[in-house]
Amino acid sequence: MSPRREVLVPTGDPAAAPAADAAVAGASRAVVHAGGLEGQRAVELSADEGDENVETGIRPRRLAEFVGQSAVRSHLEVVLEAARRRGQPVDHLLFAGPPGLGKTTLAGIVAAEMGAGLRVTSGPALARGGDIAALLSDMQPSDVLFIDEIHRLNRAVEEILYPAMEDYQIDVVIGKGPAARSVRLELPPFTLVGATTRTGLLTGPLRDRFGFIETLELYSTVELEQIVHRSARLLGVACDDAGAAEIARRSRGTPRLAIRLLRRVRDYVEVKGDGAISGASAREGCAHFGVDELGLDGLDKRLLHVLCVGFAGRPVGLTTLAMSVGEEPETIEDVYEPYLVQSGLVMRTPRGRVPGPAAWTHLGLTDPALADDVGAARRDEQPPTLFAEG
Ligand SMILES: Nc1ncnc2c1ncn2[C@@H]1O[C@H](COP(=O)(O)OP(=O)(O)OP(=O)(O)O)[C@@H](O)[C@H]1O
Ligand SMILES: [Mg+2]
Repeated sequence: MSPRREVLVPTGDPAAAPAADAAVAGASRAVVHAGGLEGQRAVELSADEGDENVETGIRPRRLAEFVGQSAVRSHLEVVLEAARRRGQPVDHLLFAGPPGLGKTTLAGIVAAEMGAGLRVTSGPALARGGDIAALLSDMQPSDVLFIDEIHRLNRAVEEILYPAMEDYQIDVVIGKGPAARSVRLELPPFTLVGATTRTGLLTGPLRDRFGFIETLELYSTVELEQIVHRSARLLGVACDDAGAAEIARRSRGTPRLAIRLLRRVRDYVEVKGDGAISGASAREGCAHFGVDELGLDGLDKRLLHVLCVGFAGRPVGLTTLAMSVGEEPETIEDVYEPYLVQSGLVMRTPRGRVPGPAAWTHLGLTDPALADDVGAARRDEQPPTLFAEG
């Protein structure tokens, strides 16, 4: 477990505290719970430290700079404005969605728009009830507490959060054994912002205590183009419309990947080209880094290969599929699948995952079920499941 040390972040100088990253960018005062940014998944989609540093200037600070997610944005506009008029903190908010879609960014925006302080921590970093009690009792009125990966909170911590969220009070036990007594602490009104990859992972009581639950969707190519243009401007690299379109198309609906790919292409054009990103140089740059036309990486391609070739198009259970490519089922489901399903490469059926028509085309193969009746009959067989499906 990481050391639970709080880091005070002087907001004006993000470079002074890279670990805090730009989550705290727009907030007037920010505290990062050390370890709060550590529980990141070790997959390509997660933000590594170097990226976060560079993203500091790119992460939108105000709602108006936040591209896409129009429903979420318009809901937030109303909720924030109403809270501002009443002079009260915003209701507790929960953002759900695959990695890299802007949950942390939105938490920073909520704090900035309210002119409030932001404290950042994460589910896995809060090991004991005392950790959350210490954080909560140190809050200032209207502060925003951001808990990333909130579905990974343990029970003891969650139970302290319930009364804190509902009545702004916590019960702390002082002392041990027969001498122990419980003391009630009043908290200043605050806003809890939670982030999770899926709302379904939260316990019912915790989910019910949020006044506002928003699920972020994958971004459209047009929205990603806007994000690429905006980021290119902030990075100071010339990028024309065709170049932005090529990058957006390969970004799997995810701003984090769009920004990362933009930076790789920038490297490429600086070294191999004239420093400006055009359609042709973006295509070359992406190809150079092994990103194909759909933005699929090694594991995506292995997944498709397992589905099409390994199982010949028969339905495959999630656990079996995950074992076949050496990943955790949750990672496949939360990180890889949303884009594969949305782009028609993978289909989820009650009996398991099957490759979509686009998968065969993408791999340059023919679906055996289309080729002959034998193939069709084979696909109706029970899948050879190696592991019990959960
Ligand atoms: N709507 C948006 N407009 C512009 N940039 C965005 C937008 N959403 C996200 N970004 C950029 O994408 C990057 C990733 O966003 P963010 O860190 O908020 O994702 P996340 O949902 O918290 O991911 P994770 O689940 O991995 O923590 C940030 O650098 C941010 O600048
Ligand atoms: Mg985040």
